Amino acid sequence: MTQTSNTVRFVLDGAIVKVGSQHFNTTVLDYLREHLHRTGTKEGCAEGDCGACVVLIGELNTDGSAITYAGVNSCLQLVPTLDGKSVKTVESLQRANGQLHPVQQAMAESHGTQCGFCTPGIVMSLTGLLQTVSHPTRNQINDALSGNLCRCTGYKPIIDATLKASEAPAEQLLLDDRADLKLLQQLRQARKLPAVLRSVQGQTFFAPTSVAALADYLLQHPQATLLAGSTEIGLQVNKNFAHPQDIVYLGQVSELRTIEDDAKHWRIGAQVSLTSVLELVNDAYPDFAEVLRRFGSPPIRSTATLAGNIANGSPIGDSMPCLLALGATLLLRRGETTRTLDLGEFYTGQKKNALQGGEFIEAIQLPKPGPGKVFRAHKVSKRFEQDISATCCAMTYQLVGGKFTQVRLAYNGLAPSPCRAPKLEALIEGRTPDAVSAAELDQAIAASFTARDGLRASWQYRSLLARNLVLQFVEEATTPAMETAQ
Ligand SMILES: Cc1cc2nc3c(=O)[nH]c(=O)nc-3n(C[C@H](O)[C@H](O)[C@H](O)COP(=O)(O)OP(=O)(O)OC[C@H]3O[C@@H](n4cnc5c(N)ncnc54)[C@H](O)[C@@H]3O)c2cc1C
Ligand code: FES
Ligand code: FES
Repeated sequence: MTQTSNTVRFVLDGAIVKVGSQHFNTTVLDYLREHLHRTGTKEGCAEGDCGACVVLIGELNTDGSAITYAGVNSCLQLVPTLDGKSVKTVESLQRANGQLHPVQQAMAESHGTQCGFCTPGIVMSLTGLLQTVSHPTRNQINDALSGNLCRCTGYKPIIDATLKASEAPAEQLLLDDRADLKLLQQLRQARKLPAVLRSVQGQTFFAPTSVAALADYLLQHPQATLLAGSTEIGLQVNKNFAHPQDIVYLGQVSELRTIEDDAKHWRIGAQVSLTSVLELVNDAYPDFAEVLRRFGSPPIRSTATLAGNIANGSPIGDSMPCLLALGATLLLRRGETTRTLDLGEFYTGQKKNALQGGEFIEAIQLPKPGPGKVFRAHKVSKRFEQDISATCCAMTYQLVGGKFTQVRLAYNGLAPSPCRAPKLEALIEGRTPDAVSAAELDQAIAASFTARDGLRASWQYRSLLARNLVLQFVEEATTPAMETAQ
């Protein structure tokens, strides 16, 4: 890393904003409110749950011809991650002639707001939806709102307002970003050097632009904190008052943002968002897509990554049971050396993993569906959306001659890390569905896991879920429609 830029630049409503190293770990929310006086964006929970802070982040598409927007929780994002991007806040929406955005107008006319605290975040989530889906269904609107909490109004007037707004002409619904587009093109042209911010206290934020530079930096700074979608790190900064000394941001490494494939696998780069993973698996593994649809909310999924979920290693991490059942492997890199590791061998304890100093996850290799292979998964949580698992169970198998074969079964929430359940797999393997009994599953669960009550669920409840989810998958495997549909 010989030459770097000490300033981060982003575009806000037709102007370039320059940020210096003192804002090394300021959140986007704080920067908008305290330095740019964009106080329409609110702070509710400061932990990604309420959506009062949602803004749209724009990025130039690959050929530089248009801006693609994603709603994000600005309370979780650090301001240096905005380098080369654009931001739209609720103040950006009103046109120069005073005309409100159709979503704002419809919210007012349909009584979609009372105290108004949630309203800017809701307006931004809905405006984001209407940038890509011109006539959303109620389900799409519900999904778009799943990360926005309103304690006063009730959602019906808000949904009605969205349906009304979607009838407006496209030129009113789409953001007027012609000035931003030109500036983003200029920034892309000018950006030859990776950004590095160094605070006077000696903290560093480094945003390499190639995997090689990232690998090299980590080899020299193995203590550095990797930052991907920031939905865990942002929480640590806000809630635990963590001050990482040395941050390496993966978001500017274009190689890590791609999904490649061969005949048998997808190779999902470490910086690919969960939104993109959901789209990828939607047809191939609908149950996996459903687990991801219930993962956080759209503004969480627009930045959060699979690699971040895996590396964070929460015992109740949701993607891992699916990935374990599907036989995913990790491509790990340290310096110029890469190795492949089965995800089942990655965890060495609670929140402990097999990464060596300076090593990182470069990609996740996910097997594609094979002939006769069935994948099932289901997440159980107290709330349907925006909630963390009591447990999530995932299973793959084939039915050959009416008997289960190649069974892989995995859970979260039952052990210090998400894991497979070999005793249950062995119990099911080679049997017909009607030969699998609840009592035997209960015995195998008791023999596989240590009974522990957790904050989110008692052991009694979790072990019952663990059995019933498998029973459901097994019983549904008996229906011919299921067998032929897969
Ligand atoms: C409101 C909210 C809702 C959530 N809902 C869910 C949910 O439903 N289910 C669930 O499982 N989780 C949930 N989470 C947790 C979080 O969103 C996920 O764990 C997410 O996948 C983390 O990814 P990230 O890219 O944001 O990680 P980051 O915050 O950027 O990083 C997380 C950790 O991974 C490390 N890391 C990141 N990338 C790499 C890499 N390539 N190699 C090695 N280490 C790396 C970082 O150093 C850090 O330790 C939620 C979080 C919030 C705030
Ligand atoms: S302030 Fe609640 S999600 Fe950001
Ligand atoms: S209008 Fe008060 S929280 Fe939504």
